[in-house]
Amino acid sequence: MAYTAPRGTVDLLPQDTRKWQYLEQLLRTIADLYNVKEIRPPMFEHTELFNRSVGDTSDIVTKEMYTFADKKGRSLTLRPEGTAGVARAYVENKLFAAADKPVKLYYMGPMFRYERPQKGRQRQFHQFGVEMLGVEDPALDVEAMLMAVTIVQSLGLKNVRLVVNTLGDAKSRQAHKEALKKHFEPYLGELCHDCQERFEKNPLRILDCKVDHDHPAMKNAPRTIDYLTDEAKAYFDQVLALLDDLEVSYVVDPNLVRGLDYYCHVVFEVISDDPILGAQSTLGGGGRYNSLIEELGGPATPGIGFAFGMERLVIALGDQLEEEEEHLDVYLMPLGEKGKNLAVQIQAMLRANGLSCDMDYQNRSMKAQFKTVDRMKANFAIIIGDDEVDQEVVNIKDTRTRNQETVALEDILAYLEKKMEE
Ligand code: HAM
Repeated sequence: MAYTAPRGTVDLLPQDTRKWQYLEQLLRTIADLYNVKEIRPPMFEHTELFNRSVGDTSDIVTKEMYTFADKKGRSLTLRPEGTAGVARAYVENKLFAAADKPVKLYYMGPMFRYERPQKGRQRQFHQFGVEMLGVEDPALDVEAMLMAVTIVQSLGLKNVRLVVNTLGDAKSRQAHKEALKKHFEPYLGELCHDCQERFEKNPLRILDCKVDHDHPAMKNAPRTIDYLTDEAKAYFDQVLALLDDLEVSYVVDPNLVRGLDYYCHVVFEVISDDPILGAQSTLGGGGRYNSLIEELGGPATPGIGFAFGMERLVIALGDQLEEEEEHLDVYLMPLGEKGKNLAVQIQAMLRANGLSCDMDYQNRSMKAQFKTVDRMKANFAIIIGDDEVDQEVVNIKDTRTRNQETVALEDILAYLEKKMEE
């Protein structure tokens, strides 16, 4: 039997991981700029956590979770997203006791959703997510959005839009929910089975139904923005005014509702128009969630956050990094058994002094070994024949100048360090 990776998962090979490392490094640097600290919650949680937070009418919970029973019969689920786990960890570890608020956390790692795979959509995918807990202030909402925008800008991504909307506070959402029920009731028989259930439990979810997307009743469905309380509207207006002050460009899309149940007030997405992304053009999304922590048993704590799909960021990066070349400091070329033993020792000594090295283990000809020097883009080749071993010297070739010199064993490190400074 030929084994293949499970559908919706991929192997990231060395030619791919360089791009990922670049992305990860950049994300960590931006997190530092925003004083956001890393948290690493587990990959799986009790299933109930996701039902409660992401919502038991969301597609993620009803259709996409990898849920299994462990040997003691507990229902566990591979995390489909990061907010729920961070919120749980915040409560469990009493991070709410911190003197300085907001508590700003980021995470980076695999998430799991049983979806139909396509470009930019996998079953095991990666998110970089940020959660800011303990403060409700339009300025913080804007900080979160600005951080998301900074990320795509730092990656040099063009044709990217910040799309924002508000779902309002609890009162606004209740009024909107009633309006949605009234609106959809006459069409109930025409909507899909899922929407009929959503109608009862959470009519907002009808608006992001993939099946009934083109039903005529969707076009003129009540919009959250028309049911806002004065306070919720004032909050949203402040957010938009601050974005204007900072000259962050955005578009308000009254139809943006996001697919997770914990949101209130501001929701946003970062969308790319780059055709390279195909149908999966949403690079990231997020919003405010003010009752999640309380629902999970913590003290009333507002929060805001967002997450980017890292696969999509890597796709959007395209071939931007292609020219940046990797290199090796030294490639050791033993020619014969004695040379090999010496190469092993020199290699260990050089590495201990911070030089990246590799050597030939295949007893190949000088010509074949020089080809490897080229392929690995080694700056120096150290050639060690049996004669050199006897004379306690090596030949060092500088591949940039093509000069070759004979160097005594004890001088190798000093010689290379001097050359590397030139
Ligand atoms: P989300 O919109 O479900 O939000 O996911 C965020 C991002 O993850 C998406 O915009 C997309 O780029 C990426 N993504 C989602 N599913 C897949 C998939 N199957 N394959 C590849 N990429 C995918 C959340 O997860 C929220 N927890 C974000 C958040 C944080 N809200 C507040 N804090």
